[in-house]
Amino acid sequence: MSQTLFTGPGPVLQQRIPQRLVSGRPVKHCLHLRASRLESVEQAPPDPILGVSEAFKADTSDLKLNLGVGAYRTEELKPYVLSVVKKAERKIVDAGQNHEYLPIDGLASFNKATINLLLGFDHPAVKEGRVATIQSLSGTGSLRVGAQFINKCIPGKTVYLSNPTWGNHKGIFSNAGVKWEFYRYFDPETVGLDFDGLMEDIKNAPNESIIVLHGCAHNPTGVDPTKEQWSKIADLIVDKNHLPFFDVAYQGFASGSLDEDAYAPRYFVERGIEILVAQSYSKNLGLYGERVGALNFILSSSSAAKKVLSQLKVIARTIYSNPPTHGARIVSEVVGNEGMFGEWKQEMEGMAGRIKGVRQELQDHLERINPDKDWSFITKQIGMFSFTGLTSQQVENMTNKHHIYMTKDGRISLAGLSSSKAEYLAKAIDDSVRNC
Ligand SMILES: Cc1ncc(COP(=O)(O)O)c(C=O)c1O
Repeated sequence: MSQTLFTGPGPVLQQRIPQRLVSGRPVKHCLHLRASRLESVEQAPPDPILGVSEAFKADTSDLKLNLGVGAYRTEELKPYVLSVVKKAERKIVDAGQNHEYLPIDGLASFNKATINLLLGFDHPAVKEGRVATIQSLSGTGSLRVGAQFINKCIPGKTVYLSNPTWGNHKGIFSNAGVKWEFYRYFDPETVGLDFDGLMEDIKNAPNESIIVLHGCAHNPTGVDPTKEQWSKIADLIVDKNHLPFFDVAYQGFASGSLDEDAYAPRYFVERGIEILVAQSYSKNLGLYGERVGALNFILSSSSAAKKVLSQLKVIARTIYSNPPTHGARIVSEVVGNEGMFGEWKQEMEGMAGRIKGVRQELQDHLERINPDKDWSFITKQIGMFSFTGLTSQQVENMTNKHHIYMTKDGRISLAGLSSSKAEYLAKAIDDSVRNC
């Protein structure tokens, strides 16, 4: 007995195969497949961030260290599941939850929790119905839904991204058919913010452009504007009638405080500026693989918010239909329970504190090993990352000679460093700086 496997357009791929293959039993004789019609597909390069982890896995050296991906590790360099997450999961399992579809815009209790975390509890914008929130697939999915909204509902606008920015921003907007440009952000001379360049570029952008701003802990530089600078950026955005799109992937992770890290979007809302915000719970709750996040529009009218939400639902429906349940239930349990909420804040402080600690240790080692160079930028930068200023050649040396994996732009994730490896890293950086 045989069965037609392919029914493609041409005869080339029409194969008769034995029924035994279809039924899953071993096949004794091989098929003579013809050349694939997809042979001409271009090989895509590996992802600049996740590709680093693949290379790390393949390295068999005991010395290897993965500072590429932004995922928190314990002092033993193991993945960390927050104890408050374990508690919430037990509660969810004990409650005997089902696996029905969520509504397109997600779990209502999660959406309430997420906007409360962003704006502070009981914010007037929420009470007045001026907020459109949709649970989405972590930070990336939320950005993508936002990008598609821009393409569909306010077409022709250019999105301005900081230079440099998180490696995925460009692709997210490009793939949604949205044009993007850079605004200046980082000054390699001062290893700090190029504030004048930023202001000039945002000023020169056409009115009503969309400006992507990292809410806190700028990735990859670890350099954030000061409160005074945020105020000047807000003034300019009002003058130009730009629309800010905040990417908040590290709330609580920069300073250890959820409120402190939400300063910038809250300040803009206080100023009456309409904003978009993509949120992620990958880092602050360690829910990386659960894909839990949200896209929020904080607007000046409830009728606009209602219409926006209707469009966001149409967009989400055709990409992934509705979001996953598990992570959203965890966030909702943790934020909705006073005890667990307090515990989460403590654990977050602990994680942020461990990162700050290894930052200091790395700087101390470098200052001792190579006192001629100014290493103070390491503790001036905040969040998970340090932008080391290493060139791509120096990064190659870090990986090929020292088995230290990091992105080509010289960014290292300090969340992947332990105290015991800080000196090894410092020596490798010093060797790369001196000899490459
Ligand atoms: C700036 C920024 N935005 C968004 C994300 C989105 O991450 P996720 O999709 O895992 O929430 C990241 C993750 O590294 C990030 O650094």
